[in-house]
Amino acid sequence: MKRILGIVASQRIVGNSEILAKAAMEATGPDNHMELIRLQDLNIKPCKACYSCLPPDVPCHIQDDLNFLLNKIRGADAVVLAAPIYFLGPHSSIKVLQDRFLSVSNKFQEFAGKPCITITSYGVPGWEGYAQEALNLTARFLNLYLVDSAKFLGANPAEVLEDPRNLERVRQLGRSLVDPSYQRSAKEYECPVCWSDILRFDGKNVTCPFCGTKGEIRIEGQEIKYIFNPEANHRFSDEGRRHHFDQFLNSKKQEFIAKKKHYKELQAPYRSLNWWVNRPTSE
Ligand SMILES: Cc1cc2nc3c(=O)[nH]c(=O)nc-3n(C[C@H](O)[C@H](O)[C@H](O)COP(=O)(O)O)c2cc1C
Repeated sequence: MKRILGIVASQRIVGNSEILAKAAMEATGPDNHMELIRLQDLNIKPCKACYSCLPPDVPCHIQDDLNFLLNKIRGADAVVLAAPIYFLGPHSSIKVLQDRFLSVSNKFQEFAGKPCITITSYGVPGWEGYAQEALNLTARFLNLYLVDSAKFLGANPAEVLEDPRNLERVRQLGRSLVDPSYQRSAKEYECPVCWSDILRFDGKNVTCPFCGTKGEIRIEGQEIKYIFNPEANHRFSDEGRRHHFDQFLNSKKQEFIAKKKHYKELQAPYRSLNWWVNRPTSE
């Protein structure tokens, strides 16, 4: 028996994301223990950028439901993360959650190897934007082990079910959580590390904007090929994580402490420009 946790980031009750998450969970097998969390039902506040959580023994001091959610993830054997696409990105609750992962970024081994799938539902062909990549980032920043990921077309609630291929595909995703033979690998035109097909081109080489893996472009006959170097210490490797979340952020924090007075002086002329508008008070 495995404990499967579904996290749904949709405002809609029994909307496409919820249906797809449930179908994937169901496909993991009848004996598993299922738990669902609608992100919108939780109180997860934005990161305050105070950096007090950087030392491994200091938790985030914001009093909300983040720890409840993290404990649910800690207790799960596999995670399903589902969100609709809003204005080309994932639902904003995903970004709010992702930013709060700063508080566990220095404990990245904790979640390592826990299988996760990501599912996005969208309503307009060609309007997928960067949502799938962003949702995958959420899983990767938590150091979950992303085993498959897919987007599904359907605008109205339950519309995804009108195309039987969607159910077939999402069940495949579900199975990949419990059976490694279903796990996805990168396609030829995708970043080999994070599967993104959105790449940054500097006129000569390509860089994956998400994991930072670099590659060359080669023209072979009529075909354009990316030759990546996936061995490099990309952002989500243990070394990449240590470099950013441990060394870089901690050195910036030390710099801030040492130069606090100087920063205050730089702020001074702007601190006094109080053009803020008060929000209306209810009568
Ligand atoms: C505010 C808003 C913005 C949206 N933006 C997009 C978009 O950029 N691209 C797209 O394909 N669909 C967009 N949609 C459609 C939803 O992604 C689609 O209906 C999805 O299936 C909703 O999933 P749900 O039923 O799980 O909530 C948008 C919907 C809303 C309400």
